[in-house]
Amino acid sequence: MLIPVVTTIQEIRAAVADARRCGKTVGFVPTMGALHEGHAALVRAAHARSGFVVVSIFVNPTQFGPNEDFGKYPRTLATDQQVCADAGADLIFAPIPTEMYPEASVTFVEVSGLTDVLCGPARPGHFRGVCTVVLKLFNIVGPDVAHFGAKDYQQARIVRQMVRDLNVPVEVRVEPTVREADGLALSSRNRYLNADHRAAAAGIYRALQATQSRATTGERDVVRLEAMLHTDLATIPGVRVEYARILDADTLRPLTQLDRPAVAAVAVSLGGTRLIDNVIIGQ
Ligand code: PAJ
Repeated sequence: MLIPVVTTIQEIRAAVADARRCGKTVGFVPTMGALHEGHAALVRAAHARSGFVVVSIFVNPTQFGPNEDFGKYPRTLATDQQVCADAGADLIFAPIPTEMYPEASVTFVEVSGLTDVLCGPARPGHFRGVCTVVLKLFNIVGPDVAHFGAKDYQQARIVRQMVRDLNVPVEVRVEPTVREADGLALSSRNRYLNADHRAAAAGIYRALQATQSRATTGERDVVRLEAMLHTDLATIPGVRVEYARILDADTLRPLTQLDRPAVAAVAVSLGGTRLIDNVIIGQ
């Protein structure tokens, strides 16, 4: 059975108010569509905790840079509807851009510090666009709990910070990364990879796992761990490494010794497709 799709702020607010009148708690999964098992896992997690689950599908223009893939980002609403229904969502909110941005916004949410590293420098304005749209969506939907994926580690960390700093009344939960059988993290962008690059992409997680096992077997020197991660990634055919960093998992600041939980995070490009992944080490 397909679930309803609403496109206006008025409709989504009315539907959530109805659910609340029935005593249900509200879970929320913000997405940009082109849904896969990673998104489905977030919806299942939401369904397990909340009586009413809203999924938003909105390809947010303000988080794409001028040379990024906003125009060609996959839009697959019919199949997305099925994925949401199968995973236990109750309603999809799929606004058109003018519903979210009726006029050019002059107000933005900026989280400083955490956005200066990893994906921040390569994607100026990206996290400002993410935070702004996520806060707008929180204000529109008004969920009790919002579910994000660990695959976008920095994004989840930044959203948590925004929620804390701005006293947003929502609980942020971060769910584990869902992977293909060969370890590649599911991503809406994986469909851009040709067969050779798709096969090569499995090397990203292998390199992260090697870092994890070096840390587990006693390597504590972060400079050496980062250097080895770089070397491993460089062996992937056709790869261009944008960054490969090991940072404090909480502050995203550099570390010299692995004396606390850290995130090993990478961004690479394969045939022009940008892929990110991460693992937690040293805990
Ligand atoms: P999108 O890329 O569609 O991702 C939506 C959510 O799914 C994010 O929380 C992301 O971390 C999670 N996700 C993606 N791939 C995953 C995987 N393999 N395993 C687990 N979770 C996964 O992230 C965005 O959209 C946007 O920036 C958004 C937050 C919706 C704001 O526009």
